[in-house]
Amino acid sequence: MNAGDVIKIREAGTSDASVLYSLLDHSPFRRGAFNTAPVTMEEHLDWFGKKIRDMNTIILIFEIGSVAFAQCRYEHGGDGSEISVSVHRDYRGKGLGTTVLKMALDFLKREKKDWFPVIAHIKPDNIISLKAFKGAGFTGLSKVIYKENPCFELRKDLKG
Ligand SMILES: CC(C)(COP(=O)(O)OP(=O)(O)OC[C@H]1O[C@@H](n2cnc3c(N)ncnc32)[C@H](O)[C@@H]1OP(=O)(O)O)[C@@H](O)C(=O)NCCC(=O)NCCS
Repeated sequence: MNAGDVIKIREAGTSDASVLYSLLDHSPFRRGAFNTAPVTMEEHLDWFGKKIRDMNTIILIFEIGSVAFAQCRYEHGGDGSEISVSVHRDYRGKGLGTTVLKMALDFLKREKKDWFPVIAHIKPDNIISLKAFKGAGFTGLSKVIYKENPCFELRKDLKG
């Protein structure tokens, strides 16, 4: 990544299965994930096929030039939507996590205002993620149990 690089954001489509697979963290130490087992391509295709057709899911892909380096997913339900994000290992620690979260929030403000508030669930030891979400304007730090894991819940309202 170089100064002046332009980050593009686009909604994922049916042909993006392998792009999203390349953005998965295959390390056994996927500290941010709630399901830490390695994901096979077969499992990914099954998951992706369902998600990409789900009207309550939006997957955003972030690119520099033609290289996809991050993804962000919204899942709408109840009173708002759940957000998750990942940046490819090679691109972490450069401020991009915070940047793509801000871009993803701007996208939602433009396209789906009614999907707010946005809720993030983050494992307590995922300090970098906590910092990235706070940097993007998320607030609150309630302790909750999510997918059987203790975690922090942060939120971002449409206003503020
Ligand atoms: C969480 C994640 C998206 C953050 O992206 P990133 O590009 O690495 O983060 P940034 O470079 O924007 O840094 C965010 C903050 O963490 C800090 N940080 C980044 N790397 C760090 C490191 N190795 N050690 C300490 N702090 C670090 C940054 O300084 C920044 O803090 P600041 O706002 O106080 O300056 C990325 O690490 C990731 O994909 N993790 C795996 C998936 C995950 O955990 N997702 C979140 C759960 S949904």
